[in-house]
Amino acid sequence: MSDSKRIVLSSDHAAIDLRQTIARHIADKGWEVVDLGPTTPESTHYPLHGQAAAERVASGDCQLGIILCGTGQGIMMAANKVKGIRCGVCSDTFSAAMIRQHNNANMLSIGSRVVGEGLALSIVDAFLSAEFEGGRHATRVDMIEA
Ligand code: RB5
Repeated sequence: MSDSKRIVLSSDHAAIDLRQTIARHIADKGWEVVDLGPTTPESTHYPLHGQAAAERVASGDCQLGIILCGTGQGIMMAANKVKGIRCGVCSDTFSAAMIRQHNNANMLSIGSRVVGEGLALSIVDAFLSAEFEGGRHATRVDMIEA
Protein backbone atom coordinates (compact mmCIF):
# COMPACT_ATOMS: atom_id res chain seq x y z
CA MET A 1 0.00 0.00 0.00
CA SER A 2 1.13 3.55 -0.73
CA ASP A 3 2.56 5.63 2.12
CA SER A 4 -0.03 8.35 1.59
CA LYS A 5 -2.83 6.36 3.28
CA ARG A 6 -5.62 8.15 1.48
CA ILE A 7 -9.10 6.63 1.64
CA VAL A 8 -12.39 7.66 0.09
CA LEU A 9 -15.77 7.32 1.81
CA SER A 10 -19.26 7.73 0.42
CA SER A 11 -22.79 6.58 1.19
CA ASP A 12 -26.40 7.19 0.38
CA HIS A 13 -28.87 8.85 2.76
CA ALA A 14 -29.33 5.63 4.75
CA ALA A 15 -25.82 5.67 6.17
CA ILE A 16 -24.77 9.26 6.76
CA ASP A 17 -24.29 8.98 10.53
CA LEU A 18 -22.36 5.72 10.35
CA ARG A 19 -20.21 7.02 7.49
CA GLN A 20 -19.27 10.11 9.48
CA THR A 21 -18.45 7.99 12.54
CA ILE A 22 -16.23 5.77 10.40
CA ALA A 23 -14.58 8.84 8.86
CA ARG A 24 -13.59 10.15 12.31
CA HIS A 25 -12.39 6.71 13.37
CA ILE A 26 -10.17 6.32 10.32
CA ALA A 27 -8.82 9.87 10.55
CA ASP A 28 -7.83 9.18 14.18
CA LYS A 29 -5.76 6.28 12.87
CA GLY A 30 -3.77 8.57 10.60
CA TRP A 31 -5.56 8.13 7.30
CA GLU A 32 -6.29 11.10 5.06
CA VAL A 33 -10.05 10.77 4.54
CA VAL A 34 -11.79 12.00 1.40
CA ASP A 35 -15.45 12.05 2.42
CA LEU A 36 -17.67 12.51 -0.64
CA GLY A 37 -20.85 12.80 1.43
CA PRO A 38 -23.75 13.32 1.31
CA THR A 39 -24.24 15.36 4.47
CA THR A 40 -27.98 16.08 4.29
CA PRO A 41 -30.67 13.42 4.73
CA GLU A 42 -32.67 13.82 1.51
CA SER A 43 -33.27 10.57 -0.33
CA THR A 44 -30.60 10.01 -2.95
CA HIS A 45 -29.39 7.30 -5.35
CA TYR A 46 -26.73 4.88 -4.13
CA PRO A 47 -25.35 4.09 -7.65
CA LEU A 48 -24.12 7.67 -7.97
CA HIS A 49 -22.25 7.51 -4.67
CA GLY A 50 -20.81 4.08 -5.33
CA GLN A 51 -19.52 5.16 -8.71
CA ALA A 52 -18.02 8.41 -7.37
CA ALA A 53 -16.03 6.62 -4.68
CA ALA A 54 -15.00 3.80 -6.99
CA GLU A 55 -13.62 6.23 -9.54
CA ARG A 56 -11.37 7.79 -6.87
CA VAL A 57 -9.92 4.35 -6.15
CA ALA A 58 -9.69 3.22 -9.77
CA SER A 59 -7.85 6.41 -10.72
CA GLY A 60 -5.28 5.92 -7.94
CA ASP A 61 -6.30 9.11 -6.15
CA CYS A 62 -7.18 6.97 -3.12
CA GLN A 63 -5.70 3.60 -2.19
CA LEU A 64 -8.87 2.22 -0.62
CA GLY A 65 -12.56 3.06 -0.31
CA ILE A 66 -15.36 2.41 2.15
CA ILE A 67 -18.94 2.79 0.99
CA LEU A 68 -22.25 2.35 2.75
CA CYS A 69 -25.95 2.15 2.07
CA GLY A 70 -28.80 0.52 3.97
CA THR A 71 -27.72 -3.03 3.18
CA GLY A 72 -24.31 -2.31 1.63
CA GLN A 73 -25.45 -4.35 -1.35
CA GLY A 74 -26.66 -1.82 -3.89
CA ILE A 75 -23.73 0.55 -3.52
CA MET A 76 -21.34 -2.42 -3.74
CA MET A 77 -22.92 -3.52 -7.02
CA ALA A 78 -22.48 -0.04 -8.45
CA ALA A 79 -18.84 0.23 -7.32
CA ASN A 80 -17.96 -3.13 -8.85
CA LYS A 81 -19.07 -1.86 -12.28
CA VAL A 82 -16.00 0.42 -12.32
CA LYS A 83 -13.01 -1.33 -13.89
CA GLY A 84 -10.34 -2.24 -11.37
CA ILE A 85 -12.65 -2.21 -8.37
CA ARG A 86 -12.97 -5.22 -6.11
CA CYS A 87 -15.54 -4.45 -3.44
CA GLY A 88 -17.16 -6.81 -0.95
CA VAL A 89 -20.01 -6.32 1.51
CA CYS A 90 -18.99 -7.37 5.01
CA SER A 91 -21.03 -7.90 8.16
CA ASP A 92 -18.26 -9.72 10.05
CA THR A 93 -14.59 -9.09 10.76
CA PHE A 94 -13.35 -12.41 9.33
CA SER A 95 -14.71 -11.61 5.89
CA ALA A 96 -13.40 -8.05 6.09
CA ALA A 97 -9.85 -9.33 6.59
CA MET A 98 -10.21 -12.10 4.03
CA ILE A 99 -11.36 -9.86 1.20
CA ARG A 100 -8.03 -8.04 1.58
CA GLN A 101 -5.88 -11.14 2.17
CA HIS A 102 -7.29 -13.35 -0.60
CA ASN A 103 -9.23 -11.10 -2.97
CA ASN A 104 -7.10 -7.93 -2.77
CA ALA A 105 -10.30 -5.94 -2.31
CA ASN A 106 -9.73 -2.24 -2.68
CA MET A 107 -13.17 -1.28 -1.39
CA LEU A 108 -15.33 -2.35 1.54
CA SER A 109 -19.09 -1.95 1.68
CA ILE A 110 -21.12 -1.95 4.91
CA GLY A 111 -24.88 -1.95 5.49
CA SER A 112 -25.90 0.64 8.05
CA ARG A 113 -29.19 -1.19 8.63
CA VAL A 114 -27.39 -4.49 9.09
CA VAL A 115 -24.57 -3.87 11.56
CA GLY A 116 -24.32 -1.61 14.60
CA GLU A 117 -21.67 1.04 15.06
CA GLY A 118 -19.31 -1.01 17.22
CA LEU A 119 -19.23 -3.94 14.81
CA ALA A 120 -18.91 -1.61 11.83
CA LEU A 121 -15.77 -0.03 13.31
CA SER A 122 -14.31 -3.48 14.01
CA ILE A 123 -15.05 -4.47 10.41
CA VAL A 124 -13.27 -1.34 9.20
CA ASP A 125 -10.26 -2.09 11.42
CA ALA A 126 -10.07 -5.67 10.15
CA PHE A 127 -10.19 -4.48 6.54
CA LEU A 128 -7.56 -1.78 7.00
CA SER A 129 -5.09 -3.90 8.94
CA ALA A 130 -5.10 -6.91 6.60
CA GLU A 131 -2.65 -7.27 3.71
CA PHE A 132 -2.99 -9.07 0.37
CA GLU A 133 -1.15 -12.40 0.52
CA GLY A 134 -0.36 -12.64 -3.20
CA GLY A 135 0.86 -16.00 -4.51
CA ARG A 136 -1.96 -18.29 -5.67
CA HIS A 137 -4.42 -15.56 -4.72
CA ALA A 138 -2.80 -13.16 -7.19
CA THR A 139 -3.44 -15.67 -9.99
CA ARG A 140 -7.12 -15.69 -9.10
CA VAL A 141 -7.40 -11.92 -8.75
CA ASP A 142 -5.76 -11.60 -12.17
CA MET A 143 -8.48 -13.90 -13.51
CA ILE A 144 -11.15 -11.59 -12.10
CA GLU A 145 -9.50 -8.61 -13.77
CA ALA A 146 -9.27 -10.47 -17.09
C1 RB5 B 1 -32.41 2.96 0.42
O1 RB5 B 1 -33.67 2.90 0.99
C2 RB5 B 1 -31.84 1.56 0.25
O2 RB5 B 1 -32.48 0.91 -0.80
C3 RB5 B 1 -30.36 1.61 0.04
O3 RB5 B 1 -29.75 2.27 1.10
C4 RB5 B 1 -29.64 0.28 -0.06
O4 RB5 B 1 -29.99 -0.56 0.99
C5 RB5 B 1 -29.70 -0.39 -1.37
O5 RB5 B 1 -29.01 -1.39 -1.63
